[in-house]
Amino acid sequence: MISINNLSHTEIQKIKVACSCLFSAELAGNNEFLEKLEFDSVKNAFIEKEKRYNPDFHKDEPEAMIIKKKERYVRIRESFEILKNHIKEQDGSVGGYDSTRGIVIAVGGAKGGTGKSLFAANLGVFLAARGRRVVLVDLDLGAENLHLYLGERSVKHTINDFLNKRVKTLRELMVSTQYGLSLVGGGGSKLGAANIHFARKLKLLNAIKKIDADYIVIDLGASTSYNNIDFFLASDFGIVVTTCNPASYLDAYNFIKVSLHRKLDRIFGPESEFRKQKNKDIDLLIKDVTMSVNLKGGNLIGRLLKKIQDEQPEYITFISNILKTYNPNVIVNMSTDESCATEVANRIQKVSQKMLSIDVGYLGSIPYQAEIERSTQDLVPFVSTYPKGILSECINNMLDSTIPPAPCYNPPAVSKPTSRRRNSCEKN
Ligand SMILES: Nc1ncnc2c1ncn2[C@@H]1O[C@H](COP(=O)(O)OP(=O)(O)O)[C@@H](O)[C@H]1O
Ligand SMILES: [Mg+2]
Repeated sequence: MISINNLSHTEIQKIKVACSCLFSAELAGNNEFLEKLEFDSVKNAFIEKEKRYNPDFHKDEPEAMIIKKKERYVRIRESFEILKNHIKEQDGSVGGYDSTRGIVIAVGGAKGGTGKSLFAANLGVFLAARGRRVVLVDLDLGAENLHLYLGERSVKHTINDFLNKRVKTLRELMVSTQYGLSLVGGGGSKLGAANIHFARKLKLLNAIKKIDADYIVIDLGASTSYNNIDFFLASDFGIVVTTCNPASYLDAYNFIKVSLHRKLDRIFGPESEFRKQKNKDIDLLIKDVTMSVNLKGGNLIGRLLKKIQDEQPEYITFISNILKTYNPNVIVNMSTDESCATEVANRIQKVSQKMLSIDVGYLGSIPYQAEIERSTQDLVPFVSTYPKGILSECINNMLDSTIPPAPCYNPPAVSKPTSRRRNSCEKN
């Protein structure tokens, strides 16, 4: 829905032009049509137009025709972005999965040494071996080492070169690896890349989302710093890696909790990217509840919802939608005991439901194996040495159950997500 009453004349004009590009001039002039417009209709119209005008689908046509199609296709993409952003800003489904571009998978968590980089690298190699176009991005800024997991002893250009404007595009940083995927190396600790200015961070996130690939896998640092959390929240699919160690799974829950607080803050707080949703009163309520020290054992978000219901009831549906669309996923790595892994995942799920009112998915567990550890010393991804080994099996189960398939116009290599069922391959 686009409620045009709240928009300026210029914004309405932009929406009408976009609508006439994706639908028709007649429909663009119909305010009732605009008011009822839903994301799915916009997406379907875009897919239809894409088939006709995306020059990649018409490579055999004469050059002049391809140039014309290209120009039209640029306008189609812009129109799609305009309508999509307006609809998402108003229905609360911010940050949702957009099936027209590559899928950004973030691998994060608050604790170091749980296997985030190992998993990110092997997931990338696994997908690339199945013919997907994959780009791995090292966003563990200040402690970057993802290149080592891909057998690259060093990377010449890093994210820092992008942040410091030495290169204009991330493409210029990409290194092709011997495993059929590309790598964008991390920042370089000497320049303090872990503290990025907000505007630069947004620029970096936008550039990552625009990378032309089926999957963009980002490897995050072990912290709940705003940068790290913002990278996590910008993904389509967030994975939190934990082990069975209590310090590790408590940190995993904390990471999920802080990310949710930050998500709400990024919508209602002073840094809001959603101008119309910026709301001082709601922001104060969120801060009041999330920073309160007297809430031991209470449902933080439940209290927030109650306060909003009492004081700002018109925001209840919007916030409920945000909670529904925030679904981080957990992996229990290096487990030596199947039942322990299941119990850890269940605990995180239960406490997240009870305290934060959100559903956390469980993707499965990965056992501890000396060969896996050795692979990192040899600088060779485990799944490339053992394509049918335990780690491939685990990743395969995870993909089958939950991770969304790549954009719809490419034949998906993995099946559609069904339920958030638990997968484990330890028994094998
Ligand atoms: N399933 C596993 N079995 C054995 N060793 C593992 C496993 N997962 C990770 N490791 C080892 O744990 C260490 C830390 O992994 P890493 O991916 O660098 O952690 P993080 O990125 O979370 O800091 C590495 O030496 C890696 O080889
Ligand atoms: Mg790491």
